[in-house]
Amino acid sequence: MEEAIIKVESISKNYKKRKTKEIVTAIEDVSFEVKKGEILGLLGPNGAGKTTTIKTICGLLKPDEGTVYINGYDVTKHRLKSLNHISAVLEGNRNVYWRLTVKENLEYFAGNRGKTRKQVSARIEELLEQFNLKAKENELGSSLSRGMQQKLAVAVAMLADSDVLLLDEPTLGLDIETGYELRKLLKEIVEREGKTIIISTHDMPVVQDLCERTVIINGGKVIADENVDRLISLFETRAYSLTLGTDLSTSQLNRIEATFPIHYLNEKVLDVTLEKENDIYELMDILKVESTKIIKIDRSTVDFEQVFLQLIRKEEDHAISSVN
Ligand SMILES: Nc1ncnc2c1ncn2[C@@H]1O[C@H](COP(=O)(O)OP(=O)(O)O)[C@@H](O)[C@H]1O
Ligand SMILES: [Mg+2]
Repeated sequence: MEEAIIKVESISKNYKKRKTKEIVTAIEDVSFEVKKGEILGLLGPNGAGKTTTIKTICGLLKPDEGTVYINGYDVTKHRLKSLNHISAVLEGNRNVYWRLTVKENLEYFAGNRGKTRKQVSARIEELLEQFNLKAKENELGSSLSRGMQQKLAVAVAMLADSDVLLLDEPTLGLDIETGYELRKLLKEIVEREGKTIIISTHDMPVVQDLCERTVIINGGKVIADENVDRLISLFETRAYSLTLGTDLSTSQLNRIEATFPIHYLNEKVLDVTLEKENDIYELMDILKVESTKIIKIDRSTVDFEQVFLQLIRKEEDHAISSVN
């Protein structure tokens, strides 16, 4: 089996709120591995702990517990050796200098890495072309649109030519068109460069387009670590669409509501997602009570967004029931 280039081992991180001194658990016991060349989607709703995880992986945050290894090096103990392999694009384009032009940003960054302008000029030209930034090369960072800044930030990260690329919500706040363009660019990078990439996002097309595997976090904990296609097919085997010949009674509806929190009724078509495949018998029982006519039973198709929402919702249902 191929060695993991990134190993995240049981990391936890608490923040202390400045004013109230209240402790906020951002992530708890998060573990996953990423193999060389793999594209991993780190997925979760706002506040789930994505940024905290990404910052811990690239050594910007020290975990309270647990360890991150990159290429075998402990990020906290062997900072330089481990961070040599990694570049990151964090939220808010912090790696774009507003007072420098597009081209100067790239040159400045290369200089920072100890390379002369001459050594990297060909690569910079290539990146300007690839990222469609050539026409803007003499414009200041501050005058660029959010999408342009984001592209520049990714180009700057590419210049480092490291094995691992971390992207924190790369399409956040972009309009549809620029989001699409950036996704296409990232796809090119994925196909051409063979890098290992972690993309944190809650943008489903990004996951569907780019990622083979996804780690889903919610409330700071990993709730799924699975191949994207497998996750979809797993849910698909439990998603049914029933066309009924008669209306459901109120008591039937109540039972369905209680047993299958994830369902949808439109006219006489009932879409349900079962928690376990055997739950289909339970559903049949509910229908049988009133001899409800079943005209047709189909398996529904499921997209990744539905899978994501169901996983998150299931977690929340569990959380609610454990509080009660
Ligand atoms: N500097 C901080 N101080 C206090 N709480 C924080 C800080 N940064 C993040 N948090 C909290 O930690 C949790 C996880 O945040 P974050 O990692 O930014 O999530 P995500 O990137 O998935 O939106 C949230 O509840 C957030 O409010
Ligand atoms: Mg974030």
